Amino acid sequence: MTRPNPPVSSRQAVASKLLAVLQGEVRSPPPLWLMRQAGRYLPEYRDLRARARSFLDFCLTPALAVEASLQPIRRFGFDAAILFSDILVVPHALGQAVHFEEGQGPLLERVQDAAALARLSFSSGRLEPVYETVAELRASLPQHVALIGFAGGPWTVAAYMVEGGSSHEFAAVKSWAYRDPDGFARLLDLLVEATSIHLIRQIEAGAQVVQLFESWAGALPADGIEAWGLEPARRTIAAVKAAHPDIPVILFPRGAGTSYPVWAGACGAECIGLDTGVSPDWAATELSNLRALQGNLDPVALLTGGPALERAATRILDRLGSRPFVFNLGHGVLPQTPPENVAELVAIVRRDRG
Ligand code: CP3
Repeated sequence: MTRPNPPVSSRQAVASKLLAVLQGEVRSPPPLWLMRQAGRYLPEYRDLRARARSFLDFCLTPALAVEASLQPIRRFGFDAAILFSDILVVPHALGQAVHFEEGQGPLLERVQDAAALARLSFSSGRLEPVYETVAELRASLPQHVALIGFAGGPWTVAAYMVEGGSSHEFAAVKSWAYRDPDGFARLLDLLVEATSIHLIRQIEAGAQVVQLFESWAGALPADGIEAWGLEPARRTIAAVKAAHPDIPVILFPRGAGTSYPVWAGACGAECIGLDTGVSPDWAATELSNLRALQGNLDPVALLTGGPALERAATRILDRLGSRPFVFNLGHGVLPQTPPENVAELVAIVRRDRG
């Protein structure tokens, strides 16, 4: 089902290219932003990062987080800024201990049973600095640069909370879900509620688009997609839409593979983020119910640069550029990426194609 385009009057009011595309318009060149556009590949980010005691402090200090979000906008002129924060601020606001160890990634005090779950309760007050960051960012950005808020999807955040960090097998979180479906459903319910509030607060502070990162969608067993992944994501998006029907939502179900159409069909988002493995041609026909698609340059092509980057980016533009499309990566910018390659990509995407 194709959704109707908005009336011309509201289209004229859209100053941002990203917002126009998320309303179903085609823009050439397409709007461009990159997942993890702020981060360690930028020397100015590394300098800023050295000023905070911990990564969580960094995320929760508005002066630093605002500056981190603005750095890639100044350097590259992207069409959207993404709030500088992390998906794991939600477990932090639930009362779970969260640390980021240099070189090891995140470490969380594990939540693996009903007793641990009962100790958690969401305090959006702990995230006031995030909403302050959003408000300051919106006030600092030019009108044509859209501000994106975000959160992790319930399944992905549950995986970090139960595993206690990153994982390859997801044995702890999946075992809990198989063994005790009701108890695990309570964890997902708690996350749906906390995540909806967190996104609504970001919108009320000035976010104009929100992205839900379901980064571990690819770890779901086929039989768990509906109950553990899609249904909680759908409920989160529905709660956001009930409060703010006009704010577009981008869902990124990374690694969903042949289940991409299942996620796209019933999630309630306007736009789906394609990961690196999805063929743009396939997406253009199989995911046509959405207003817009986003993606999906291989972050390693960006890291490589030169003719390989040119070929990979051009292929995506040729396949998806004539529809409502947001140019992005298929996953985040890698820390070892030369910033010059990012400048090169911006030039390729914005080159006049007649
Ligand atoms: O520019 C942006 O995209 C905004 C900021 C942002 C960060 N994390 C900053 C960050 C965003 C949108 C995220 C999302 C996030 N965080 C995801 C979903 C996207 C994805 O990558 O799939 C996930 C799974 C996390 C959890 C997380 N945070 C991990 C696994 C790590 C460690 C791995 C790593 O890259 O170090 C983090 C830390 C983190 N989040 C860093 C940054 C810039 C690096 C820490 C540092 O700079 O010291």
